[in-house]
Amino acid sequence: MSHGILIVFEGIDGTGKSTQCKMLAELLSKKGIANISLAEPTRGEWGMKIRRLLTEGRNGVSPEEELAWFINDRKQDVELNINPALNAGKVVLMDRYYFSTAAYQGALGFDPEKIRKDNEKFAPQPDRVLIFHNSPEKSLERIESSREGKSAFEKQDYLMDVQGIFKSFDGPNIRFISSDASLEKVHEQVLREVQDLFELKL
Ligand code: TMP
Repeated sequence: MSHGILIVFEGIDGTGKSTQCKMLAELLSKKGIANISLAEPTRGEWGMKIRRLLTEGRNGVSPEEELAWFINDRKQDVELNINPALNAGKVVLMDRYYFSTAAYQGALGFDPEKIRKDNEKFAPQPDRVLIFHNSPEKSLERIESSREGKSAFEKQDYLMDVQGIFKSFDGPNIRFISSDASLEKVHEQVLREVQDLFELKL
């Protein structure tokens, strides 16, 4: 059976990773390379519970439950979407995966390394992980232009902790990309970072 390629886009909100994920998907399609774009949290039952929590607030849901929901959502995604696409030989592009759980739930106090290892027991390891990051100046600009006032700064502190955990990841398949440059320049870097997975096709 042929096996596809798994490429993951990670980083804090506002780094442009979703846009870059779409740009790569469009290029692959243009080149006739079969691909599928997936995102976590998913639109499945667990993903929808998570989205409600994100928009409506915790309402008594503990961090432990939140972590369990992300894991349940991913288990379904692996079984229903990720593994079938990889087994069909497709390129799977993911907007967030278990590195997000390690970073975001890690910043709530769980051990990021344990989260990563627990996920790797059931989730296929990516061929490439692109971790996007913003400079503190760029992040500050974003807050100053937002209208959320003090809560935006509190959220920013949390996101800086999350970004710190993202930056601590290492491994042969992990690449860091600064998203401060223009969309086109960042796209060019994305291509350089995945080129070897496609031989001469890109
Ligand atoms: P999104 O903005 O990319 O749709 O992601 C929704 C939020 O969910 C985002 O703030 C990051 C968060 N998240 C986690 O906290 N843990 C996870 O495992 C995942 C996949 C997302």
